[in-house]
Amino acid sequence: MPEISSAPSVSHEPTPAEPGSPAPLRLPDDRQLVMRVMPMPSDMNGNGDIFGGWIMAQVDVAGAVLPSRIAKGRIATVAVNQFIFKQAVSMNDLLSFYAKIERIGRTSITVNVEVYAERNPANLHVVKVTEANLTYVAIDANGRPRPILQE
Ligand SMILES: CC(C)(COP(=O)(O)OP(=O)(O)OC[C@H]1O[C@@H](n2cnc3c(N)ncnc32)[C@H](O)[C@@H]1OP(=O)(O)O)[C@@H](O)C(=O)NCCC(=O)NCCS
Repeated sequence: MPEISSAPSVSHEPTPAEPGSPAPLRLPDDRQLVMRVMPMPSDMNGNGDIFGGWIMAQVDVAGAVLPSRIAKGRIATVAVNQFIFKQAVSMNDLLSFYAKIERIGRTSITVNVEVYAERNPANLHVVKVTEANLTYVAIDANGRPRPILQE
């Protein structure tokens, strides 16, 4: 399967850690970057953070990218098996969605999605904000499951 090309090359050198603090996060290189987006003010909740429902919708869209390619046609989300909000998402966070195929079944494909926020561009800081596991089903023109043909 061809790699999805990343955004223009940006250095994601980690911020130097304070002595004794855990190593700073880097964007993953063992997964495919499937989407990048920055939330808008209309996506904000009353606390000034971003609505969890908005993030779930973005994860559903991002998670479908690799299964759509593999299924070579229509797919539908059948299950959100796990969804963890590890940290709040803030305005001005640049969100990157990284996906990895976990299982290809007869008609279904399960994918794991990790979402990373890049914040404070002047002193770049990468934070893992969300992790989810979703299953998509390849469907035919009548919306019924169809077998996935693998090369
Ligand atoms: C997706 C849909 C077509 C599946 O139809 P179905 O008759 O339930 O399908 P099946 O029971 O034959 O299961 C199809 C595949 O989905 C998997 N699956 C079904 N329910 C699942 C669940 N809760 N979790 C994980 N996988 C599931 C099955 O294991 C099977 O995979 P396999 O063929 O690789 O072994 C149907 O449930 C549907 O249309 N759902 C609505 C989809 C939708 O609108 N999603 C958008 C959100 S509203």
